[in-house]
Amino acid sequence: MTQLTGIGIAAHDTVALSQSELAAIVADFPTLATPARDGGRLAYLDSAATSQKPNCVIDTVTEFYERSNGAAGRSTYELADRATAAWDDARAAVASFVDARPQQLVFTKNATEAINLVALGIGNASQGVVGGDGPLDLNLGAVDEILVTPAEHHANLVPWQILAQRTGAKLRWLELTPDGRIDTNPALLAQAINSRTRVVALTHVSNVTGAITDLEPILAAVRAQERKPVVVLDTCQSSAHLPLSFAQLASAGVDAICLSSHKMLGPTGIGALVATGELLYSLPPVLSGGSMIELVDMEHSTYMAPPARFEAGTQPLAQAAGWHSAVDYLRELDLSRSMLNEHELTGQLLEGMNQVEGVRLLGPANTTQRLGVVAFEVQGVHPHDVGQVLDASGVAVRTGHHCAQPIHAHFGLRASARVSLGVYSTPADVRQFLDALQNVRKYFNR
Ligand code: ALA
Repeated sequence: MTQLTGIGIAAHDTVALSQSELAAIVADFPTLATPARDGGRLAYLDSAATSQKPNCVIDTVTEFYERSNGAAGRSTYELADRATAAWDDARAAVASFVDARPQQLVFTKNATEAINLVALGIGNASQGVVGGDGPLDLNLGAVDEILVTPAEHHANLVPWQILAQRTGAKLRWLELTPDGRIDTNPALLAQAINSRTRVVALTHVSNVTGAITDLEPILAAVRAQERKPVVVLDTCQSSAHLPLSFAQLASAGVDAICLSSHKMLGPTGIGALVATGELLYSLPPVLSGGSMIELVDMEHSTYMAPPARFEAGTQPLAQAAGWHSAVDYLRELDLSRSMLNEHELTGQLLEGMNQVEGVRLLGPANTTQRLGVVAFEVQGVHPHDVGQVLDASGVAVRTGHHCAQPIHAHFGLRASARVSLGVYSTPADVRQFLDALQNVRKYFNR
């Protein structure tokens, strides 16, 4: 089986987790031991939508509320100090997990907000909102272009559509290959990335096809521009599966990545934008209010340096503490190793699904440069019905358009079912899914 490589994937030479190590990981996740609807074994295969949480994360959130809850950064009493320390430590831990510096990480509500922060910030800069004091010219207008791809989930498309509306810039997009990869044909790239391109927003891994984007040619085209476009890489689907290095991505031309705690074994309600100092300092504020200001009079305010400039209001402290625990857990488990397990399971999934009559896979049919996110169509059966029949066998998958309508249109569909792996996925989960999938068409007499 070929290995996964690419810019920013900082894997080291190692071996997959043993079956006993994997069993110990599964035992850390109480939801995985919850009986399925039929009272039998649960095969949780929807980690691309949200991951399950290990006991250490659940315990950390509880402990925060029991022992450390106070007004972080806003008082002198001991509980407030503990809350402030938990917040600062979480920033350092999450940043270090993706090989970034703490001051490069802005906490947000989720990855969607992280992407919006950049799009709204550029919109604000273009409309004269002051406060950005960095080196980048973020003023967009009608002569400029924003480049996206049809492989984006809506969180990395709609904010750019709105930015185009606000600024008059033209929204363009790359093409997809028949199997749903972002097409990096040099002639297409040379046309799409040009002197008018000011923003390139694209996914690292598709949440429908699992395809890993071939970043090299895209970033080479970006770096070749005299005025380099801002590159936002959506790492929602890669950050819990591949060991990422923001430092490496940034040296190759990526300005920002976005993270979602709840997809990384952490709590919901928190995510992050990780960005270069050049970008963060150049963006004016987006959300404003307490904790992001220096001086305020009745007419004016001055703002704190990033990341605080973008963290207005009381923050999700317990969630940050929980996310810290989640990245500690992932670090201990070693993504370079679990990546090998997931890759092996992806091969088993693809091979098994390819053998089920009437099942069409959306995306690459082999394991080359793809993760364990596999959307599929069962011919003649609506995806929601597929999901219900699978659920009746204890298999949890996502159904619908997965917040990614354009890539479904590319495949001539409105919706699909999707199976997706996590660090705790096992061969037994894959077998349970494949057995249940065999029954779907039989159930509907197809
Ligand atoms: N990224 C979310 C999912 O794929 C929308 O389920």
